[in-house]
Amino acid sequence: MQPAELNMSTTVIGHQLFLFVSMGDRGVDGELAQDLELLGKGMENMHDADGPPTDEAFEGGRYQLLRAEPELTTEQQIAHPAISGSHGLIRLECASLEPIKRYETGLRALIESRGGSVETLAGVQRLRSYTSHAMVQFAYAHALPPGPGEKYPLAAVTPLNKTAAWWEMDFMHRESFFLPRYDENENMVVKGHTLASAAGVPSINRRLVHAPEGYGLDGNYDFVGYFEFAEADAPVFRQVMEALRDTEQNPEWKYVLEGPEWWGRRVRSAESFLAQ
Ligand code: HEM
Repeated sequence: MQPAELNMSTTVIGHQLFLFVSMGDRGVDGELAQDLELLGKGMENMHDADGPPTDEAFEGGRYQLLRAEPELTTEQQIAHPAISGSHGLIRLECASLEPIKRYETGLRALIESRGGSVETLAGVQRLRSYTSHAMVQFAYAHALPPGPGEKYPLAAVTPLNKTAAWWEMDFMHRESFFLPRYDENENMVVKGHTLASAAGVPSINRRLVHAPEGYGLDGNYDFVGYFEFAEADAPVFRQVMEALRDTEQNPEWKYVLEGPEWWGRRVRSAESFLAQ
């Protein structure tokens, strides 16, 4: 289904690729670290970036290397071993697709020639569809901006699909899941998505991408969430995920099927990315 048919925003404001890397049996050689650094040349390493990107950096492309934290990663409803079992992730973002596609092609050649593999999740950044001015003030105006890896070393990736029943709903019905619901006496009966997750606003940096070709299609998740936070705020992230998955507080999740919740640690260099 296309966003326009759903009354959702059609404007694409950026592209992202999540490249989950599984190393082959042949392991890692010294040349690989060098070649990996070369691939990122001319792009911004987000590990040291503080705040949102400049236009120039976003046009040139940006990357973040992350080493898997397998003991923190959890399988959810949709099994996806190429993600949950991966050794690392390279997250790319750019105003246009070409520079980061080139990176992907280069990475695939490096990894596959050593017997490994790369699993790609692709997404586009879109303008928000359901968010009023007032909601911007609540959910975004004071949200934690992106910061350097030293400050926010942990990251989680949450690929997910919405069910067919979700996409068949009228847009006002869909929009209603993002707000609390009240009974005939105006008592709040459920929190809804935004209030259930509100604890994360000041301490979790969040980004969301949408399926590039439209929603409800095979071969790509409808959404991929990406979150960065300080070590001390990992419990807040867990609390937010628990609240979102609690369908009594957040009935939206009745219409959600999740891929793995993948956790990783941001690293600056190819050498630390490849360290076992
Ligand atoms: C931390 C606090 C969070 C707040 C305040 C928040 C708030 C919101 C709001 C207001 C929207 C509507 C955006 C629009 O207008 O299109 C939204 C969408 C969304 N959020 Fe969150 N969110 C939070 C955390 C999360 C987390 C942890 C996930 C994990 C998967 C998540 C997944 C999504 C998804 C998939 C959508 C798009 C839903 C759709 O369009 O059907 N959010 N969020």
